[in-house]
Amino acid sequence: MTDTSGQPVCRRLVGRTAVVTGAGSGIGLAAVRRLAAEGAHVVCGDVDASSGKAAADEAGGLFVQVDVTDPEQVEALFRTAFETYGSVDVAFNNAGISPPDDDSILDTGLEAWKRVQEVNLTSVFLCCKAAIPYMRRQGKGSIINTASFVARMGAATSQISYTASKGGVLAMSRELGVQFAREGIRVNALCPGPVNTPLLRELFAKDPERAARRLVHIPVGRFAEPEEIAAAVAFLASDDSSFVNATDFLVDGGIAGAYVTPL
Ligand SMILES: NC(=O)c1ccc[n+]([C@@H]2O[C@H](COP(=O)([O-])OP(=O)(O)OC[C@H]3O[C@@H](n4cnc5c(N)ncnc54)[C@H](O)[C@@H]3O)[C@@H](O)[C@H]2O)c1
Repeated sequence: MTDTSGQPVCRRLVGRTAVVTGAGSGIGLAAVRRLAAEGAHVVCGDVDASSGKAAADEAGGLFVQVDVTDPEQVEALFRTAFETYGSVDVAFNNAGISPPDDDSILDTGLEAWKRVQEVNLTSVFLCCKAAIPYMRRQGKGSIINTASFVARMGAATSQISYTASKGGVLAMSRELGVQFAREGIRVNALCPGPVNTPLLRELFAKDPERAARRLVHIPVGRFAEPEEIAAAVAFLASDDSSFVNATDFLVDGGIAGAYVTPL
């Protein structure tokens, strides 16, 4: 496998075990490929059995079907990783949803609010709770929780529960990173900017004005590719980031730093 500039990827994760949730699609799938290419045993968790299994097969890893909102299934995911490969070195807690009924606060019902909180925030609580005991025993581990740049910035095009859930992921990751730092466990919140995924492409193909409204805020003038986010995941997973902890790790093309962008 090559990196985004065509160079062979480095092998920073040989012998490590990485658990990835939301492994079947988008950022999770790109991360599965990258982590495997860097030498990790990858355990692919997804609620969707066909895409999750395909990801695992491609990476020579293991598929575990999991609904990340279910405590027992999440425990089984990390237990299976440990029992199969003997360690849990990396947890990329990434599964998340962004459903259309999560919108402006004026239009979003309580059920829609709760569902997004469960899948995006409670899931990260459950995954960290399950992963940390293994990492404490090893005296080492890297947890990467997928938040979003919207945890840092406000949008007039609101998805209120999504944004609040990602703010929660960010605050929880920071706290865990501080609490477990002296036990060799690092916890970071990964904050991607908008990523060029099939869902986003479809949405913006239908509505170019909507795409333009967002692109104008991105200094680099385009959305991220999933592989660019996966490269950051591999860095945070590896010992190259040994002093990076409790951060909101932005991979956003400069959005959060921008006032006026180039024409
Ligand atoms: N795509 C973006 O622009 C973007 C930007 C910032 C943050 N994020 C975040 O990145 C993460 C991944 O997003 P993506 O764009 O790759 O999404 P995606 O929809 O392509 O993939 C999400 C995966 O999660 C799985 N999943 C959904 N609910 C689940 C559940 N209850 N249990 C287990 N698996 C479940 C899906 O089956 C799917 O394979 C999410 O947390 C998302 O909020 C995405």
